[in-house]
Amino acid sequence: MKLDHVNIATPDADATAALFAKLFGLPVVKRTTVPDQGVKVVKLDAGNAIVELTEPTGPDTPVGRFLAKGKPGLHHLCFAVKDIRGEVARLKKEGVEFVNEEPKLGAAGLPIVFLHPRSCGGVLVELVERADA
Ligand code: CO
Repeated sequence: MKLDHVNIATPDADATAALFAKLFGLPVVKRTTVPDQGVKVVKLDAGNAIVELTEPTGPDTPVGRFLAKGKPGLHHLCFAVKDIRGEVARLKKEGVEFVNEEPKLGAAGLPIVFLHPRSCGGVLVELVERADA
């Protein structure tokens, strides 16, 4: 599978974006807010993949609770797939547990699912369905 993005949880997405621009030369390609997920998102172009910075819009949100538990940093990896329902079925046969196995629309307006970290070596993994995957 092709890496689509790496997501980093941060209390201040603009500050982290400015830091990554200065240190690594990554330009901002999109700023958006996803109210139903409780996040402000800043996407940075890292050439072959996107680095996505998510800042919680409040403490009682998935990223807000993640930050409350520990330090800012890697939140999840995302792989692009052509057929998300087909991949969910295949991975379920492999014994993978999902956070949500019914695809929902993500920040890019594309169907996404999350695999549980306990099935993926401790890493939260997202799949996104893209025609060009
Ligand atoms: Co993501």
